[in-house]
Amino acid sequence: MEKLNGKKINTAVFISGRGSNLRSLISHFKKKRSPIYINLIISNNPYAKGLVYAKKSKINQYIINFKNKKASEKKLLKKLVDNKIDLICLAGFMKILSGNFIKKFNKPIINIHPSLLPKYKGLNTHKKVIKNRDKYSGSTVHLVNAKLDSGKIILQKKIKVNKYENEKTLERRILEVEHKLYPKAIKKFLNSSF
Ligand code: GRF
Repeated sequence: MEKLNGKKINTAVFISGRGSNLRSLISHFKKKRSPIYINLIISNNPYAKGLVYAKKSKINQYIINFKNKKASEKKLLKKLVDNKIDLICLAGFMKILSGNFIKKFNKPIINIHPSLLPKYKGLNTHKKVIKNRDKYSGSTVHLVNAKLDSGKIILQKKIKVNKYENEKTLERRILEVEHKLYPKAIKKFLNSSF
């Protein structure tokens, strides 16, 4: 994917909750020379804490409940086209986008997942790491395809699981890693010929 004529890539970030990755993306990409421009925040949850960052940064937000998935995705696609969005970054977005949506959007969709994929797709990754006494965990940024957490990996960061680690401490440590990893992975993706 190219940054044509030095123009920034219009990006929508999708969230459902806390939004700490959204916050880090906003602060990272607000720089003048950044390759992307975050101009839309999508949330399926009107009470998502992360929406506060959209407000603070005066970024347009669009709330869409996924009760009727087909109809919601149709509206969402229109919103993305109207806003000339060329890249979607999922950041703690808890809904699964359909294959039809991915096909129709027809532009890259990137996700960040708190495990060393392909290990532990889906939910409760930290719980599984602790339960299985894994030595390592981490986070993965990958392209989204129709299969859950299965698209091509862009970048991954591994950390050692400490001796007295629990779900909470692991989550906190991995979040810190993610806040650096996601912007780095987006830049890597944009500079590559994926
Ligand atoms: C992150 O751990 C991310 O990897 C996962 O959901 C979490 C979202 O956290 N997909 P936040 O909302 O960005 O704080």
